[in-house]
Amino acid sequence: MDRRNFLKVVAGATVIAVSPSLIRGNLYAADGMLFSAYEKAQLVDAAGKPIKASALQKEVTYIFNYPYASTPCMLINLPKPTGKDVELTSESGEKYVWKSGVGKERTIVAYVAICTHQMTHPTPNDSFITYVPTAKKTMAYEKSGIIVCSSHLSAFDAGAGAKVLGGAATQPLNAVVLEHAADDTLWAVGILGSDKFQDYFKSFRPELKEFYGGPAEAKKLVSISAKTVKLTEYSKEVIQY
Ligand code: FES
Repeated sequence: MDRRNFLKVVAGATVIAVSPSLIRGNLYAADGMLFSAYEKAQLVDAAGKPIKASALQKEVTYIFNYPYASTPCMLINLPKPTGKDVELTSESGEKYVWKSGVGKERTIVAYVAICTHQMTHPTPNDSFITYVPTAKKTMAYEKSGIIVCSSHLSAFDAGAGAKVLGGAATQPLNAVVLEHAADDTLWAVGILGSDKFQDYFKSFRPELKEFYGGPAEAKKLVSISAKTVKLTEYSKEVIQY
């Protein structure tokens, strides 16, 4: 277990170090849910081969579905090391701490790619949410190297737990808690933050039926492995303003 990936959960004045892989079920702080452990899943490529952290291209948005078969998450290898121990606040005021990115240089991050404003997310048809590389411009914020939801121009800090930088979103994107193993493989182990998965399942019923066959299939928990591809392969069209 990579000790750097331990979570710190703030419960009032108490900070508790928690190893996500040791948790089954939900972890509750004194004032609400902050972290949910899910089945540990290895990130693999389209051929089923384990993804190696050192092979991830910089500033490319990759997508894998986790913790449910229909919930897309983004994986990004940032150009520089992330912040550490970033304190975040959910829209209902819960405080929690995002520990840091993983990998040799602490540059690899993963977030649920469902916008916390009105749940825009990548589909096989298109995506309005993406990481915007540092060399590109965005209308959502004064600088790039951030995550942008182009539906209503919300901007999230990719290197700081997806903290909201601007726009209509009222809380950070949920973070996927990653483990980086000694053999350079990557594993998703849980979700940090106040999630909206149940609202998502309710709001996108027809779409989930179209792409996953129905609500039961869409709500299936991912286990063992999660196929990880570039966003440009996951969605036919990526729209970014
Ligand atoms: S849905 Fe993302 S900014 Fe509105």
